[in-house]
Amino acid sequence: MKRVGLVGWRGMVGSVLMQRMQEEKDFDVIDPVFFTTSQAGQAAPNFGKDAGTLKDAKSIADLKEMDIIISCQGGDYTTEIYPQLRAAGWNGYWIDAASTKRMDDDSVIILDPVNRNVIDDALARGIKNYIGGNCTNSIMLMGMGGLFREGLVDWVSSMTYQAASGGGANHMRELLKGMGVVHGAVADELATPASAILDIDRKVAKTIREDVPTEFFGAPLAGGLIPWIDKQLDNGQSKEEWKGQAEVNKILGTAATIPVDGLCVRIGAMRCHSLALTVKLKKDLPLAEIEAIIKSGNDWVKWVPNDREITVKELTPASITGGLQIGVGRVRKLNMGAEYLSAFVIGDQLLWGAAEPLRRMLRILID
Ligand code: HSE
Repeated sequence: MKRVGLVGWRGMVGSVLMQRMQEEKDFDVIDPVFFTTSQAGQAAPNFGKDAGTLKDAKSIADLKEMDIIISCQGGDYTTEIYPQLRAAGWNGYWIDAASTKRMDDDSVIILDPVNRNVIDDALARGIKNYIGGNCTNSIMLMGMGGLFREGLVDWVSSMTYQAASGGGANHMRELLKGMGVVHGAVADELATPASAILDIDRKVAKTIREDVPTEFFGAPLAGGLIPWIDKQLDNGQSKEEWKGQAEVNKILGTAATIPVDGLCVRIGAMRCHSLALTVKLKKDLPLAEIEAIIKSGNDWVKWVPNDREITVKELTPASITGGLQIGVGRVRKLNMGAEYLSAFVIGDQLLWGAAEPLRRMLRILID
């Protein structure tokens, strides 16, 4: 059995990964070794298999013993440890959730239901680094992969609605605290049906400006939104927006770059990222054909007919959160012309957007 080192298994993405690996019985087919940055020597967790004691995540000697390492420890860890490991002669497979190595020539971005051909080609070429993609890109491609596979996409404009979990566990907590603060400010008035809504609104606006916590998001999210995610680049894009075109084309291994651009916005959802897409098709196709192609993308596409009642039930964070299905709906031709398509794509960003591609890459390496 392959010795698989697991780093960062206790964090949010790592915990989701451990849960999925248990559900899919991945631990049955590996020899897991758990690493820690703070508790080396203590008992390792038991996910259905005794794994001895925790090893030091900074010990190159211990890491070197692994055939495969999966890291959810974050970019700083990758930046510090990965070069040392390779310099020490380690030739194993590095599977990473962090973005650090994503765009490197010696790495592939993994999303196997969409780019298994790119992964297989890289394996055959001896590539050893397999990196999870940005969550919005992975969700978009899981939903619209069929259209890309058929070479039908001329360009995509993606306007995102990104959940708090994309920032991390602290950000999710901050969102909830903010919701509580807003509610608390007007709880008495809400309990009185006769109270004036504009008085309530005034109090809410003041509370959002002054009292909602902003430590992690840098601006109040509860009751609002934040139209900027990640760093500012010189060209006016946010880093999150820049990743769209760069990563999508790398994932697909496209010969000619497909333009992908739009605005990324943080909203008050917990862990479902959504994207409102405008897709310029290379040709006019009947909607029934487009539907068939999107559905054929992969087994996780959940097609939601463009019908009001079904859409408000099925194409929402409430419906999608916690599961592997990628909702695709609101698909129709736009007024701009017969080749202009709208679509709304939604997925759980901790699953396909983070943990799931990692464990599936592990399976590709060991099955
Ligand atoms: N950068 C993403 C976000 C999460 O902030 O929502 C990880 O891909």
